[in-house]
Amino acid sequence: MGVDGVTSVKILRRPVPPSHRLERAPQQQGPCAAPSMALPWRPFSLSAYHVSEECGFILPAPQTELPTYYRPWMDIARSVPQLVQSHTLRSHVHQMPLLESHFLEGHRELRLAHLALSTMTMGYVWQAGEHGTVKVLPRNLAVPFWDVSQRLGLPPILTHADGVLANWRKKNPEGEILWKAELRDAARGYGVTSSGGHVFQAIPKVIDGVWAGDSVGVSQALEEIAEALHSMTEALKLMHEYVNPDVFYGIMRIYLSGWKDNPSMREGLVYEGVQEEPMEFSGGSAAQSSLLHCFDELLGVQHEEQSAFLSRMREYMPPAHRQLIRDIAASPSLRHFVQDRAGGPLLDSYHRCVSRLLVLRNYHIKIVGRFITVPAAQARQLRSQGTPGEVEALGKAPTSLEERGTGGSGIMSFLKTVRNRTQETCLTGPAPFQ
Ligand code: HEM
Repeated sequence: MGVDGVTSVKILRRPVPPSHRLERAPQQQGPCAAPSMALPWRPFSLSAYHVSEECGFILPAPQTELPTYYRPWMDIARSVPQLVQSHTLRSHVHQMPLLESHFLEGHRELRLAHLALSTMTMGYVWQAGEHGTVKVLPRNLAVPFWDVSQRLGLPPILTHADGVLANWRKKNPEGEILWKAELRDAARGYGVTSSGGHVFQAIPKVIDGVWAGDSVGVSQALEEIAEALHSMTEALKLMHEYVNPDVFYGIMRIYLSGWKDNPSMREGLVYEGVQEEPMEFSGGSAAQSSLLHCFDELLGVQHEEQSAFLSRMREYMPPAHRQLIRDIAASPSLRHFVQDRAGGPLLDSYHRCVSRLLVLRNYHIKIVGRFITVPAAQARQLRSQGTPGEVEALGKAPTSLEERGTGGSGIMSFLKTVRNRTQETCLTGPAPFQ
């Protein structure tokens, strides 16, 4: 799988053969990427990447039920919030039968199973807060979770692909999307900005336009992307409307946290019946959303110092989405194309895209300030000066995550460097910091 801790130690479960995974053959590369491959040009198509023009990366029509055999999973998964509240989730998991995962069929069924098993896992690990974690995930949860993860090519932990992309339904046939589960409110904001939607018609137009040397077509498609980036920033503002920072920071965040780069679980987690050694996996983060990775590759934003973390986050995406990012990266360089035709509307459109991406990243930094930095400072102050009731109200807010994201990054320095690299991508002098 290529995620930390998996390859170097003894595996008790056999990995699923690659033919059972939902990988996709790479798109043919363009002449700028690999001049030696003199293959004929064919249009860049999104259909093979599990990406739809309507839903983007969001899983269309996610399944809501598994076959009856899996009822014990679904019953517990649906009650995780109540069972965590009553501190009985772990005992329910211990009583759960060890089910075979091979009766699961098809991508959507597997995604629902992954969502259910990951929800139980996060609740199981964090039920008693950061000081009451476990070292072992019991066999009846670990073994099927591992098998389902292998078949999907996802890590055995809650990912953005679970909590956001596969965790929604429509309020009514024509209605807006409603994100479900306890992550509902935050997921709503994440989902709006992570899906991509119509921008997916524009990405192939840019790549094909560069191939064909069509400056006008590329410029028009870049305008569509710039518009989409603007809409994403507007959607990000919904976080203030839908998400209460105290609830996000004090209650929800710990359940997104992982067991890599997390001082609360320095040794990782043993997946009983899978591997004798502990494994480490990062928690769920929007850094695992494929959309900004696509934009970075398309526009030529180079992340150097931060690339290790961002590359690792790609291991937490569905393989087909990961492949899309790789294929965009291997396409002829848009940035060079714009540079070669310096000036005019093409340069303006490119500059508008980079500027809008910069605005989005700046706004995201503000969000992180409000949802993490400010509550973390308040929590520190309450711990030193607050009444017992106030300190209790901090609940399970993890002190170990005050300086870290749920993905495990050192938050502000990471995000500011990513933002600065975006700014340096501009070809016309510095884009505005807003
Ligand atoms: C409560 C709201 C949010 C908070 C507190 C938050 C926090 C963070 C943190 C701490 C990171 C650093 C990586 C890590 O360790 O996890 C991060 C990265 C990231 N977040 Fe968010 N985030 C929020 C909402 C969103 C939304 C709605 C999006 C959708 C656009 C988003 C997109 C990203 C991306 C793409 C990264 C990777 C860095 C980059 O490419 O700029 N975040 N976020």
